[in-house]
Amino acid sequence: MRRAQTPGFRWSGTRVLITGGGSGIGRLMALEAARRGAEVIVWDLSEPAGRGTADAITERGGTARAYGVDVTDRQAVGRTAEETGPVDVVINNAGVVSGARLLDIPAESIERTVNVNILALYWVTRAFLGGMIARGHGSVVTIASAAGLTGVARQTDYSASKWAAIGFTESLRNELRADGHPVNTLVVCPFYIDTGMFAGVRSRFPRLLPILDPDEVTLKVIDAIEAGRRQLVLPPLVRAVPVLRALPVAAFDRILDVLGVNQTMDHFTGRPGGAQPPAKGGSTSTRESSPTG
Ligand SMILES: NC(=O)c1ccc[n+]([C@@H]2O[C@H](COP(=O)([O-])OP(=O)(O)OC[C@H]3O[C@@H](n4cnc5c(N)ncnc54)[C@H](OP(=O)(O)O)[C@@H]3O)[C@@H](O)[C@H]2O)c1
Repeated sequence: MRRAQTPGFRWSGTRVLITGGGSGIGRLMALEAARRGAEVIVWDLSEPAGRGTADAITERGGTARAYGVDVTDRQAVGRTAEETGPVDVVINNAGVVSGARLLDIPAESIERTVNVNILALYWVTRAFLGGMIARGHGSVVTIASAAGLTGVARQTDYSASKWAAIGFTESLRNELRADGHPVNTLVVCPFYIDTGMFAGVRSRFPRLLPILDPDEVTLKVIDAIEAGRRQLVLPPLVRAVPVLRALPVAAFDRILDVLGVNQTMDHFTGRPGGAQPPAKGGSTSTRESSPTG
């Protein structure tokens, strides 16, 4: 079986698509991939936010384009993928969180979480995977979460969606390996990152479970893509979760309680308006922004 990503991977000449690249780690990954020489295509729900990232790249001498696209809109994804053209690396990064107890989450917010965090993985990846297989190289990156390794109080929709994201990527990895296609997959499972998406969350033991620095997460993800890694779990303590699952459920729950995991969301505020679904009809435009060739 061939190694999916050759050790000689170079960003120069590589076309990278990042969904949700208008803010947070999506924006930072776009800037870092471009700094290393990649041509970057930013997709974001907010066309101005995506354009802001593309402009920042072109101002620094890089090459970038931006499209306003709702990744949950299958038709819009197909249209925008055609305009985008072939890409070598897809980073499925767009994500949303509700951050409320099951009985308090608006139904529309649950649907939005499933649509953005799960179904969009299918629409975006399917739009580009065939080209990667045909060209004999490529990389599909899924930004999941540590919440995909353990359920967390007030994350019934978010955590479930990230479990799905991990299952999606693992199944795809095995499918590609079984079929002998040299396309890499990388799943990223970080604890909370200080981007504002999870504003208000707290860690009881910040040395063991720190709220992660967005720049550090970005460098680790970009390095992991470059190295052809298949999984990135941050911080290291989170790697113990699958092992701890061998314990009886009550003991596993007790360890999470001691670590304060189920209290992390007690002061969650998130982004203002973060639990609200986007306004209807306002999210499917596909405009190009500031190309530099
Ligand atoms: N922050 C954390 O603590 C944390 C921890 C683990 C994993 N993650 C994951 O990391 C990824 C990035 O999160 P982040 O912290 O950088 O959050 P962020 O700053 O809120 O970035 C998420 C991006 O996704 C975009 N987006 C949302 N819905 C979309 C849609 N339907 N179509 C296109 N784009 C859409 C948002 O656009 P708008 O702003 O225009 O809506 C935003 O630019 C997410 O998948 C998240 O689940 C985050």
